[in-house]
Amino acid sequence: MSPPLTHTVDDDGLGWIVFNDPGSRASALDPSMPAALHDALDGLAAARVKAVVILSAEERVFISGADLKMISSLPDAAAATAFSREGQQLFERLAGFKTPVVCAIHGVCAIGGCELALACHWRLASDAPATRIGLPQIGLGTIPGWGGCARLPRLIGAQAAVEHMLAAVLVPAEKALAVGIVDEVVPAATLKERARAIALKFAAEGIPSRPPPPPPPVSFYADQRLGVLASTGGRLPAPLALLEAVEKGGGRSLDEALGIEAELYGSLAAGEVCKNLIHILLLKDGNGKQTLDAWFPPAAGGPAPAPFRIIGIVGAGDMGSGITQWLAARGFGVILVDTQPDILKRSMEAVRKLFHESIARGETTHEAAHKALGGIAITTDVADLVDCDLVIEAIVEDVAAKRALLAEVAKVLPPESVLATSTSALPIEEISAQAAVPGRILGLHFFNPVNRMALVELVLGRQTTRATAERALAFSREIGKTPVVCKSAPGFLVTRVLFFCLNEACRLWEQGVPTDVIDRALCDWGWAMGPMRLIDEVGIDDTDCILGEMERYFPGRFQASTICRRMLAAGLKGRKQGASSGFYVYADGREAINPAMAPLAPAVPSAPPDVATLADLLLQVMIDETKRSLAEGVVRTPDEADLALLLGAGFPAFRGGLMRYARKTGLFAG
Ligand code: NAI
Repeated sequence: MSPPLTHTVDDDGLGWIVFNDPGSRASALDPSMPAALHDALDGLAAARVKAVVILSAEERVFISGADLKMISSLPDAAAATAFSREGQQLFERLAGFKTPVVCAIHGVCAIGGCELALACHWRLASDAPATRIGLPQIGLGTIPGWGGCARLPRLIGAQAAVEHMLAAVLVPAEKALAVGIVDEVVPAATLKERARAIALKFAAEGIPSRPPPPPPPVSFYADQRLGVLASTGGRLPAPLALLEAVEKGGGRSLDEALGIEAELYGSLAAGEVCKNLIHILLLKDGNGKQTLDAWFPPAAGGPAPAPFRIIGIVGAGDMGSGITQWLAARGFGVILVDTQPDILKRSMEAVRKLFHESIARGETTHEAAHKALGGIAITTDVADLVDCDLVIEAIVEDVAAKRALLAEVAKVLPPESVLATSTSALPIEEISAQAAVPGRILGLHFFNPVNRMALVELVLGRQTTRATAERALAFSREIGKTPVVCKSAPGFLVTRVLFFCLNEACRLWEQGVPTDVIDRALCDWGWAMGPMRLIDEVGIDDTDCILGEMERYFPGRFQASTICRRMLAAGLKGRKQGASSGFYVYADGREAINPAMAPLAPAVPSAPPDVATLADLLLQVMIDETKRSLAEGVVRTPDEADLALLLGAGFPAFRGGLMRYARKTGLFAG
């Protein structure tokens, strides 16, 4: 294997280190890198270079972090601390290099790549959108362990450093400049030349000294700790360790600070949460490489599936509006159909609002949003879909209505186009039963809200052809969603598993377990939202409808709770479409137990189990249903089920996945 970097000396006496591993897409700080960088620095020191410039030959990634599989295989805290020490010592060589070291960043510069940059004496960043910089290790359950915790506060101050590292995000070059992580932002085309010029200047004049940054406010660490405990419930050790590393390291020498960092890194990297979070990241990576080979007979090869360009969406309700915005923002032409002009008008208002929110978050610009909005056409006439190569129906959850609509749509579409249903639970065969060409029909189950939920269940009916599925798989990836392929079955995976759980929660409520106790059970376990709150969000009517469907599809095994029906009769709709009264009432951004629920509760409640027992019970329901789904082949592997439940149902990532948890606790042997 070729080395991950090269080093050369030019005619001006400058040393160049170029990360350019041709064998990998990114120049990962893989196990061969430390030796290669030591060699390069030895060589450049021996050549007595005037200064060193570090850059990367890669287009999109400057230098990514260490190999995640390797970190996750570190056997214990001592090995992880040693790994941290090795990286720190390597980068210490850069910081202590006799002549100036300039780092020229283009592309993603994250984790170990960013720590390498921080050890250099000067950092330039290209202004390209691909350039994004940061230390997001908290998201992996660790802290920066190759010098980041010790160096960043010394560069930009403890307060800004902690805020950056706790946010666990990559920032664009301009933001990195504003915070002080980089020293200059230059046009991508001039990056190399500017790096050469600045390296020669520092070679002649010396590296400018930096004044020490101001200390944080007195109560800074205590306040941050309170904030972290409030947002994580104390279940995530990394943010607290980060605060400890920066606070303790702040009053000491760099060497001592690095020692503290390495010890804390060691205990985190060897811990359960870090291994779980890395596992999830690897699952996501693996998803990008999955094929349909497990679902269809071998394919004969051939050209890549033809991409969709003009997409019809029928049904301009919550889902139709959300999907329209998502697709338009990604450059697709969208034709949105509904029965009434005023519904379409309301939908476009919702789409515009989503664009405004996206602009406010800095995800898009006014110009781009304006252009995307211009790509949306609205109509009440299905015949206007004639040029679409994909139509997604998002009308009411009713088999007869969906069948009739697809028949109507099929008549106007070209034969090679694809028809997708966004049904959340109905088997595809029921919807495609009377279709002339059922092979071109499949499910694309998006999740609500579409702009925040990464999952799409790609649901294969018995007659869905491989060509249809291939196009839908490529499309799901193209629009930045994570597709999990499912066999058509009632509720597919996520709706089925989730609603078995929600039904159990409702039944517990009907036995007298208080709303907040049920919710606390899953929230204390790590879920962002408890089942009763989730039902309010989904809407009492939709929940009731799906519980009814589940009872029909799983007779004998699923006895639907009646509480949602009784809530609807009492005028309680949950939190959908402006309503604010369900299991909770919502006002001024707060929620409180809804007193209107009291008359619906049992007169003689049974004594509630403790929250840990309740959590076990609800998790057991989900595990059992996932096991059944796996046995029936609804999803192919426990890992795929875990990914779907993480991205579609909100399973807490730090637990590593439902079936991974079940396996560890002896509840699943697969
Ligand atoms: P919705 O009730 O908000 O909107 C449905 C829209 O379809 C309405 O605007 C209605 O006027 C229109 N419509 C009905 N029949 C039509 C026809 N023949 N031609 C054109 N338009 C027609 O429904 P929502 O919540 O957007 O759900 C749509 C589909 O997506 C359902 O199948 C639902 O199960 C599924 N889904 C819903 C999720 C949610 O959280 N709301 C999540 C995932 C899937």
